[in-house]
Order: sequence, then structure tokens, then C-alpha cells
Amino acid sequence: MSKLPYERPTVVKHTSGLANKFGRGSSRRTVPRIDGVAVSSLIEQYGSPLFVFSEHTLRMRYREVHRAFSMRYPKVQLAWSYKTNYLDAICRIYHQEGSFAEVVSEMEYEMARRLGVPGERILFNGPYKPSDALRRAFEEGAKVHLDHYDELYEAERIARSLGRKVAVAIRVNMDTGIYPRWDRFGFNFDSGEALDAARRIAASEHLVLTGLHCHIGTFILEPEAYRKAATNLATLARELHKDSGTTLDYVDLGGGFASRATLHEQYAPGTDSTPPIDEYAEAITSALLAASWPGGKMPTLYLETGRALVDEAGFLVTRVVGNKRLPGGARALVVDAGVSALFTSFWYRHDVLPVEDRGGMLEETVVYGPLCMNIDVVRPSVLLPPLEPGDALVVRPVGAYNVTQWMQFIRYRPPVLLVGEDGQTDVIRRGERIEDIKGPEELPARLKAEQ
Ligand SMILES: Cc1ncc(COP(=O)(O)O)c(C=O)c1O
Repeated sequence: MSKLPYERPTVVKHTSGLANKFGRGSSRRTVPRIDGVAVSSLIEQYGSPLFVFSEHTLRMRYREVHRAFSMRYPKVQLAWSYKTNYLDAICRIYHQEGSFAEVVSEMEYEMARRLGVPGERILFNGPYKPSDALRRAFEEGAKVHLDHYDELYEAERIARSLGRKVAVAIRVNMDTGIYPRWDRFGFNFDSGEALDAARRIAASEHLVLTGLHCHIGTFILEPEAYRKAATNLATLARELHKDSGTTLDYVDLGGGFASRATLHEQYAPGTDSTPPIDEYAEAITSALLAASWPGGKMPTLYLETGRALVDEAGFLVTRVVGNKRLPGGARALVVDAGVSALFTSFWYRHDVLPVEDRGGMLEETVVYGPLCMNIDVVRPSVLLPPLEPGDALVVRPVGAYNVTQWMQFIRYRPPVLLVGEDGQTDVIRRGERIEDIKGPEELPARLKAEQ
């Protein structure tokens, strides 16, 4: 074997992010601050993991959405979808901005009332409203959206026992070209069921139909589907008026506008592919304006948009706890927040960005949580620079659904912080403690002995 000539070893610094055939490669983005407040100082003060909400974004986005609709249509009312995020501070901010509450259970109804929202400013949706909740809603003047015939009959029984007529609306489902269709909720438009239910109410001695509601689905990327929904509701209102002389006070087009998050299966990031709110507003309001309304009376337009308002106001701060090289060669990071806190990881390719980038090669990385379960994947693959235990990452946008759908599983749920418009920080939900988990439990006397 011949001896190879000696070559001096060289060290070459690789920097990914240089030009490729698509132009400039991936940028090396970091999130050192949230609304001007250093993430490192937040971790120092409040620990990790930590949810952070931006009051500025919450308010600005609300105003933007409200403006998009109200500049096109004369009577617009937003109703904050509690299920999207029902932390008191978040709901209060929306109520301060003028929002009603949209609730889908007696628990959410109670949350809104506790915050001082009067019944008349609550829209009550959902397929199950227990009798006493329904009665309370009628007594307090809430806007009840009936979901099915048995609920309609129950509403009639309650109205009879109250000795007066009560106002109701019906939820309507329909084919707007969005699949899977959300046809489990309400009465179907295409089959004529919704018109039958409306006629049934118009003929009732105890109920008055004042509105029509639909919510065609969630994360709808196609504004034209809303044009169809608005047109169908207007058609239903006209047919009902022809039959029974009923004129409606309002139509509710629900929520479902996409936030700028990115679905796993989407090619382009949400920041590029989500339609601007103006496109949804244009589709809905132009359909309502084009419709002929009985007696020329334009109904109030209600909207129950959730994720499009709140998603981008929420961040999750998490820290690296370990580096790994998986048997297949992939680089992995273990972080201190997992899918129990970040439910939306299952459907979104969240931005996972370092707070600080000290250079080095970007590498495709799997980001795992701490749950000791194989499904605990925050991002299956994301380009990240080398990071050490203790380095922080920011996950965004995470403001929608996480702090309602999160689970307490083997770890405490993290605290939630609000960064005010002046940079002030307030804990709006403290981190959980053992008594929050064990408090409701009872150990039967016969099991109290330790041995
Ligand atoms: C009846 C109703 N209204 C509003 C919403 C809010 O939807 P989104 O967050 O997609 O705007 C939901 C959520 O599914 C809902 O069920």
C-alpha cells in the first residue's frame, strides 16, 4: 500500500443560508425580544417554559378585523370565541375593545358572566346546552343558537314555563365547498331542514326567530366559501319572510378565518398563504349588501372569529435541556415544553426560533418535548443553529387554543404572562402547583393508612 502524501488539515467555517437556486437560503431569524422586552429577562424572572401574550397585538388585531368589516357594512358586532382562549385577561381586553362573548358551554357562559358580560352580550352556541343553562340564558336575555330539534322542543318547554315568548336563532350548516363539511352542527340548508326548523319556530307560540347563525369550519383559507354562506343565509331569510313574515335582527357568520400559522401540509408559510382579513370581509359583506332583505332591513352582522384574532399575540418560551444524535443521524433537541402545553403542534408547523444565534451551521433538527411519550414532537424538522442546554427558543404563533386545550400530564402547566403596551409584564395565570392537581382528589379513609 502506497503512503499518501501529507496534507495540512484545514478548518472551514460553514455558514448555511447562502444563495441557492431559490435565491437566498433560509434566513437566520432570532426572537430576542417580545414587544421590546428581552426574552432572557422574562426567563430570569418567570422561569421556563412560559406563555407570553402581547397586549399590543391583541388590541391592534382586534381593531384591524373590526375595521375591515365595519368600513364595508353598517352594523357589525364581534363576539369573542371563548373556547379559543378564555383567560380572563385576554377576554377582558376583547370586551374592552367592544366585543361580545361567544360561548359553547355552561362553563364558558359562567366565565363570561363572572367577567361582567351581561346576558344580552352573550351568544350561546354548541350542541349541548343543559336545561338549566338554557333557562338561565333565556332569563338573562342571551342570544341562544339552537342546534337540533330536541333543543328546540326544550327551548319551547322552558319558554312556556317562563310564561313569555323567548328569542332564539338557529345554527345552519351547508355545503360551501369546504371539506370535511361541518355538518354535525345545526340544521342543514341544502336539504331544506333549516327552512323547516325556521318555519317551525315561526309557527311557535313560545319562540321568536331573531337570527341565523353558521360556522362553516375552522382555518378556512378560502374567503369565497363565506360568500356562499352569507348568500345562503340571505336566501333562507327571504324564503322565511315570504312564508311567515318573519324579519331577522341578525346573521352570524361564525369564525374560522385562518391565522397566519402554517399547517404541516402547507408548502408556503402562513405569512404568505393566509388571505388578508379584508378578503374575508369583502366576500361576506358584498354578499350581504347584494342580497335583498325583507322590508329593506339589513341585519346586524355578528362574527365569532377566534384564531385569526389571538393566534399571533401568543408565544411560548422554552429552553433546551439536551442535545441528541438519533440512531438515523438526525439531530434532536429536547426542550422543556411539550405537546401537553402546545396542542397545536399536531397540526401546525410553528416557527421555532432561537432567542440568540451564536453562529455555526444550521441543521435540520427534531424538537422534542419532555413528556416521555413518542408523540411529544414540537417540530419534526426545523433548521436550527447549534444550541446548548439553557439556550432559549420562542415558538409562535401559539395564542389560539393552546391555553384552553392544554393538558396537565406529568408536568405542571406553565405560567402565562401578558406584556402590556407600555412594556409592563403581568402574570395572568400563575404556573400550576401540586395543590392545583391534587386539590380536587379525595383519599377514602380506608386507604389512608400508608401500609
Ligand atoms: C361556533 C363557533 N364559533 C366560533 C369559533 C371560532 O373559530 P376560529 O377560532 O376558527 O375562528 C368556533 C371554533 O371552532 C366555533 O365552534
